[in-house]
Amino acid sequence: MPNVATISRGIYKPHLQIEGNCSLSGELKVSGAKNSALVLMIASLLTEEPLIINNVPNLTDIDGMVDILLAMGVKVKRNLDQINIKADNLHHVELPYELVHGLRASFFCIGPLLARLGKAKIPLPGGCRIGARPVIEHIRGLKALGAFVTVEHGLVSASLAGSNKRLKGAHIVFDCPSVGATETVLMAAALAEGTSTIENAAQEPEVQDLAKMLNQMGAKISGAGGPQIIIEGVKNLQGCNYKVIPDRIEAGTFLLAGAITHSKIKVAPVIPHHLSAVLQKLRDCGCTIQIEGEGIIIIPGEITGVDLTTQPFPGFPTDLQAPFMALLAIANGTSIVTEKIYENRMQHVAELQRMGASIRLQGNTAVIEGVPQLSAAPVVGGDLRSSAAMVLASLSAKGTSRVEGLNHLDRGYENLESKLNKVGANILRKGS
Ligand code: UD1
Repeated sequence: MPNVATISRGIYKPHLQIEGNCSLSGELKVSGAKNSALVLMIASLLTEEPLIINNVPNLTDIDGMVDILLAMGVKVKRNLDQINIKADNLHHVELPYELVHGLRASFFCIGPLLARLGKAKIPLPGGCRIGARPVIEHIRGLKALGAFVTVEHGLVSASLAGSNKRLKGAHIVFDCPSVGATETVLMAAALAEGTSTIENAAQEPEVQDLAKMLNQMGAKISGAGGPQIIIEGVKNLQGCNYKVIPDRIEAGTFLLAGAITHSKIKVAPVIPHHLSAVLQKLRDCGCTIQIEGEGIIIIPGEITGVDLTTQPFPGFPTDLQAPFMALLAIANGTSIVTEKIYENRMQHVAELQRMGASIRLQGNTAVIEGVPQLSAAPVVGGDLRSSAAMVLASLSAKGTSRVEGLNHLDRGYENLESKLNKVGANILRKGS
């Protein structure tokens, strides 16, 4: 029985106990993409018919989205990695701020709600640990489609303007290629009257996945994956049976687990071109990359430092910046990492420093002098991808580390420790 003193020292906080100096071998299985699955679940609001989504990862973010759909009267059934959704009785409620704030994708419901019900009210998601994360592009897009939108008391209210029964097709030019804004407008415009064009659209694979599923539901969308997307609005969408793409960020994290432990491993399934920028950086670091169908094999050599800057797709993804920095912390030579997407995504730097990394931080640029090995320490992941960086650093460090911040990790990595343990890691989940 823990006494008061041990509890107050946080001994029983959920954490991973990770043995360092580890060697991995074998194949790591990649789950379905979190960011795709979330938005595909939202797209189910666009039809009364049943929709089946396969390859949905078992994550707390997905649990949160299920709760949101249930709150709006949607029927949801889950069986392993399959979700059955039927939004025939869709009724809108004002989503509690805690749900929206904790799960940014929930704000994207505004597009389908407006298209299906003619009105929507959703609290502004607000900022989060990694940055301010505005939604002005989403709102500008919806206004262009003919919605009347107000923001008052932290609540975004959108309705069809005047006597309009449907949104109206429009030409929309985004100031920045926001993934969420592109997805919000894509869903709203799919049921609008007339043709819409999105310029400077986000080109991320998750946007392409959404467009592909919408087309399978009867939408008429072309150009997704490029900077210009054209959407010919239709009156109704149907149900469909769809499979989520593999998670490129989880796959990238696994490749980095191979690189940081100097272990040859295979990561599958993946869509290799979704990871082009990451694979290039791994090659530049001295890793050999072999692509075999839906699998990628990494054969790490001597790791040397590289410079990288995060960018919208097809550039280097911000979501892999922290995990990649863990690798650069033990590379030969100097690396410079510049974060261009989020203003506060360097929380892992202080934790890596606690493990012996030599990093100077100037604003959003980190200058990393590689050291031969990190040393184990108790560390805390401050956001989803920092937590993953801590796990990677711990796998290669000397000694046994303790990684807290599992509430973040569990949002985006399905069974991370059991997947890594299957290929040779020694990770114990404790205190939960
Ligand atoms: C999505 C992903 C997230 C990823 C991010 C960037 C989901 C659920 N999440 O988030 O994992 O890190 O893409 O690849 O899919 N911006 C504005 N105005 C806006 C909207 C965004 O200036 O109205 C800026 C943001 O501040 C940020 C950049 O655009 O600097 C990218 O944001 P965005 O693409 O919107 O990210 P999300 O869709 O929220």
